[in-house]
Amino acid sequence: MPTLTDKTAVITGASRGIGKSIALHFAENGADIAIIYSSNENSANEVKTEAEKYGIKAKTYKCNVADFAEVKTVCDGIIQDFGKIDILVNNAGIIRDTLLLRMSEEDFDEVIDVNLKGAFNFIKQLSRPLMKSSCGRIINISSVSGLMGNPGQANYSAAKAGMLGMTKTIARELAGKKVTCNAIAPGFIETDMTASLPQAAKDFADRSIPLKRMGTPDEVANLAVFLASDMAAYITGEIIRIDGGLSM
Ligand code: NAI
Repeated sequence: MPTLTDKTAVITGASRGIGKSIALHFAENGADIAIIYSSNENSANEVKTEAEKYGIKAKTYKCNVADFAEVKTVCDGIIQDFGKIDILVNNAGIIRDTLLLRMSEEDFDEVIDVNLKGAFNFIKQLSRPLMKSSCGRIINISSVSGLMGNPGQANYSAAKAGMLGMTKTIARELAGKKVTCNAIAPGFIETDMTASLPQAAKDFADRSIPLKRMGTPDEVANLAVFLASDMAAYITGEIIRIDGGLSM
């Protein structure tokens, strides 16, 4: 029995990796989806075609999540196209890993702008439509790096920790309107992002994860489906780790 029937979801960074998997799982569970992508139109269209096989409505939108004005224009378009929004997943993210001593101002600013401000931009534009939904959901994709810190990720861990504070504040601010706001903190998940990590970092991951493997995008997507569904109506302001035991 689909759990997201008649709901409309916006997923950022949905052309690949975890975002793509969330978009397809939402579609499989009956949600209409707005697929936000930054540059790869072909991949976004492939996700749309695959999602439409589930008989739902899907549309793609090119958008740099870090650009406040662009996010506003795109969100206005989404509301016009779908009429309502029930679920927002802030998934778009980048890494610019390097040790603090080598980290440039640009490396820091870019990671904060995409990962943290990007989430703010979408929440800011969509909170009113979410408040009109009887079951509004905001899901922020953070990281265990924001909980534990990680050498080489001063920028990324700051952005992901910032998302956690923002998640709790938004959860408090929107609770009166029955909008929940939760964060998912993945550990190492097999995507293009982790494929780019140095071998030493992958070896460290294999050694230190109690379940002795990386997670899959589908495993993160299953958690997102649950948080987006009516089954999670009483969960808000939570940070749910999905990391094979890495950060316990
Ligand atoms: P990915 O690199 O495969 O996907 C990231 C997506 O974000 C891409 O579709 C990319 O186009 C999009 N994106 C990047 N900058 C953007 C911008 N300015 N505007 C719009 N879209 C933009 O990475 P992955 O692994 O799928 O990561 C998804 C999320 O999960 C990210 O927020 C990441 O930080 C987080 N995460 C990933 C982990 C992993 O091990 N893969 C672990 C913990 C968190």
